[in-house]
Amino acid sequence: MREVLVVRPASGPPYRVLCGEGAPEALASAWDAAWSRPVMIADSTTDRLFGGALASALEARGHDPLRLGVPPGEGHKTREVKAALEDAMLAAGIDRRGCIIALGGGMVLDLAGFVAATYMRGIAHVNVATTLLSQVDAAVGGKTAVNTPLGKNMVGAFHHPRLVLLDTAALAQLDDAALASGLSEMVKHGVIGDRALFDDLEAWATSAQTRRPPDDLIARAVSVKAEVIAEDDRDRGRRNSLNFGHTAGHAIEHAAGIDHGHAVASGMIIEGRAALRNGSFPKEAHERLTALLTRLGLPVTPACSFETARPFLLRDKKNAGDVRCALPARLGAADPGPEGRFTAPVALAELERAWA
Ligand code: GLY
Repeated sequence: MREVLVVRPASGPPYRVLCGEGAPEALASAWDAAWSRPVMIADSTTDRLFGGALASALEARGHDPLRLGVPPGEGHKTREVKAALEDAMLAAGIDRRGCIIALGGGMVLDLAGFVAATYMRGIAHVNVATTLLSQVDAAVGGKTAVNTPLGKNMVGAFHHPRLVLLDTAALAQLDDAALASGLSEMVKHGVIGDRALFDDLEAWATSAQTRRPPDDLIARAVSVKAEVIAEDDRDRGRRNSLNFGHTAGHAIEHAAGIDHGHAVASGMIIEGRAALRNGSFPKEAHERLTALLTRLGLPVTPACSFETARPFLLRDKKNAGDVRCALPARLGAADPGPEGRFTAPVALAELERAWA
């Protein structure tokens, strides 16, 4: 693994991001002497695939990892599962020098990060991201949360990891649909913050024999998020730009029950069209976005009707008495919007037109 960037959050200490193969050895050698017992949190799938090698590397350095498991799937990212993890840590005598190692995709990273945020008022955690989607999104930025019966990520905290490992060897375990889901967020990062990344994703997609992107493109996509976090890590302004495609995307994800990256792809097309209609996003950019997502095997038409999605649009966390979207200004730049908060009100009638 090699260091690809250092995240310098607007609030909170900087942390390194390592990318590549060999996560167990990299973690064992980057272990901070200030941390005492490692607490590995993985779901049963990631534990079976990657847990043994990680635990062995830590044991070889004299550590005695506590291995805790959770059932896989977003449905288990709950307050109850969090409480069970905390009780197991308390029973094992983990003190505030303990360090949680979150091993898995976004569900595990969000949940284990939230345990770290509140255990003894906050302990260190390391994210070892094993899916493309979590590598380019959840692994950096410090958003941690659990779901409640009334919505996703409704209870949580900002708590940055101390170290992030993007385990690209783990990507070999993913099918094309899971890789495409991560690629959708990479394209989004190109659109909102890095024109050259968009161009290079386009060039790669034209010739690629596989949906597994090269490490360099993954690292550059994460760098876009890191730049945003350096300016705003609390959703007060620029961080909202990371939500391009997500107002429509979240509504489609929940209404149609489809995967996040696929829903965001069609969400970007809808919101990009709204931006096109209000004159802030060029037609040629929208056409290139549509062509790239199609080439990557992502949907460019919504998986459900506007009417089915409407109740979810009205419940979006960004709303402030209206429906808000984070819109692009051109390829490589987000639109700061009327208040400089990187969201803009979009009338429901306008979204409905853009849906078609
Ligand atoms: N996934 C959006 C964010 O981290 O703000």
